[in-house]
Amino acid sequence: MKFIIAPSILAADFAHLSREIDKIQQMPNSWVHLDIMDAHFVPNLSFGVPVIKSIRSITPLPFDAHLMVDNPEFFFSPLKDAGVNYITFHIEQTNVPLKLIRKIKNLGLKAGISLKPATPISEVENILPYVDILLVMSVEPGFSGQKFINSSLQKIEKAKEIRESKKLHYLISVDGGINNKTAVDVLKAGADILVMGSYFFKNPFKVVKAQIEKLIESNF
Ligand code: DX5
Ligand code: ZN
Repeated sequence: MKFIIAPSILAADFAHLSREIDKIQQMPNSWVHLDIMDAHFVPNLSFGVPVIKSIRSITPLPFDAHLMVDNPEFFFSPLKDAGVNYITFHIEQTNVPLKLIRKIKNLGLKAGISLKPATPISEVENILPYVDILLVMSVEPGFSGQKFINSSLQKIEKAKEIRESKKLHYLISVDGGINNKTAVDVLKAGADILVMGSYFFKNPFKVVKAQIEKLIESNF
């Protein structure tokens, strides 16, 4: 399968958001990754439903929401109304993950589960049959621009192994510290979706586009 690029607008220039979204649109196979933070689950505050609603009107790309908030379920319905397609929440944030997955699916959306770097995959193994995305955090959630944590590679490999052995279908997404070099490693380990914040938005677009096209040609 061809991999998906999901630039995270957390690292974008908010003064020129439509220009930044246009960069994402110029990439093949791309989604918009939306990091929603409430300064409780993570020590940072990002943006919410009104911003998402506004950008929904300028692009048809899939919207991939990553919830880093207390009470993630409060946001499911407003996010659906704002035009989000995928909602991913953190396993560390709930004791009733299956209930939350059901809620997301009942809204007609796709559901994802995410793991912080220190959370082992065994914590979500029993719910993997019910999710569309497994989001492996390769940095501590909260901020763009952190260094990729290498032990995430084993987690991605394990996620792929479980998917194969149990004949499951979730996409493996990797989030944090992805650039043209770490992308090669995570793709080899089995990632399907590359979330990219600072690498995508903080480098000259021409360079990033050429590097990603090269990655696509290397045919992972
Ligand atoms: C961190 C976010 C990431 C972040 C990625 O909590 O979930 O999506 O924006 O940014 P980079 O690619 O700069 O690590
Ligand atoms: Zn994210």
